[in-house]
Parts: sequence; structure tokens; C-alpha cells
Amino acid sequence: MNIFIRKIAHEDAAAITALSHQLGYSLSPEQILQNMTAVMANKDHDAFVAVHEKKIIGWIGVSNAIQIESLPFCEIRGLVVDEEYRKKGVGKMLMEKAKHWCKEKGNNMVRLRCNVKRTDASLFYRHLGFKETKEQKVFELNLDG
Ligand SMILES: CC(C)(COP(=O)(O)OP(=O)(O)OC[C@H]1O[C@@H](n2cnc3c(N)ncnc32)[C@H](O)[C@@H]1OP(=O)(O)O)[C@@H](O)C(=O)NCCC(=O)NCCS
Repeated sequence: MNIFIRKIAHEDAAAITALSHQLGYSLSPEQILQNMTAVMANKDHDAFVAVHEKKIIGWIGVSNAIQIESLPFCEIRGLVVDEEYRKKGVGKMLMEKAKHWCKEKGNNMVRLRCNVKRTDASLFYRHLGFKETKEQKVFELNLDG
């Protein structure tokens, strides 16, 4: 299969929206485009798509994280491969691109968070050499009440 990886572009918004729905996020194409535009404008963020015969079949987001208490690291912000294209090496290609981006930023540590319900994704990350370091809970507060 002839697949290549490139940076996201505005015209990818509809495809990225559909893939994000597969990931379980229900934002509209307009909201996704707004987020993509913010990512593209920020030097500490980036995102890439996998393309097969002009079709977007996966995407990955990555950022540079700076925290007071930790050494700098890069974080995978989102990753999904189209259901019809899984287990064909696409996720690994996207991860390789993100790893390359991290190295270009001078960073040699990659971190990611994965919902404990995503057992397949956990197996995938372990297979790629990621080590589980901790479990966390996520807390949110809506400031509009
Ligand atoms: C997780 C996901 C991105 C993996 O992408 P993929 O394209 O199917 O994975 P690949 O084909 O690139 O797999 C790369 C390697 O991991 C292995 N692998 C993939 N899924 C695996 C699994 N569930 N269990 C064990 N190994 C797995 C592959 O066999 C392959 O091994 P190899 O390199 O030795 O041949 C994809 O399944 C997906 O989009 N899942 C739904 C969304 C999701 O959960 N995203 C992660 C959010 S944290």
C-alpha cells in the first residue's frame, strides 16, 4: 500500500473530523478547523496525516511540553487510524513522524496519555516500546457553572 505522511492542512478538516468521531470526540468540522488552525500557528504544536490514494486515513497530534517539575518532553496529543486501515502499519508510521518531530525539537522523551478503556491502543503502545509509568484520574470544572 502506498501511504505517505504529511503535515495537516486546512482542507483536511472534514476528514480529521470524521476520524476524530471514530476516536470518540464529537466536535463539528468548524470546531476541528479552529483547533487545527491554532495547532498550525503554534510552534510547540504540530499534527500530521497519513494519506492513501488522496484519502486521509489517520492523524497524529504532538506537542512540546514544558513543566516546572519535569525535564522537557513531547506529548502525543491524539492518534487515530481509520477503522478500515488498522493493523497495516499506519499508526506506526504516524508515530515515527511524531518521534522525528520531537527529535527535531531537541527532545528525546515522548509521553502520552491513554484512556484505560482503550486496551488495544495500550497494546499498540507497549508493542512500540512505550512503558507504562502511572495511572491518573482526569478532573474537569465548568467555569460557566
Ligand atoms: C491504536 C491505533 C492508532 C494503532 O494503529 P494501527 O495502524 O492499527 O497500528 P499498526 O498497524 O501501525 O501497528 C504497529 C505495530 O503494533 C502492533 N499492534 C497494533 N495494534 C496492536 C494490538 N491491539 N495488540 C498488539 N499489537 C498491536 C502491530 O502488530 C504492529 O506490529 P509490527 O510493527 O511488529 O508489525 C489504531 O488501532 C487506532 O486508531 N485505534 C483507535 C483509536 C485509538 O485508540 N487511538 C489511541 C488513543 S490513546
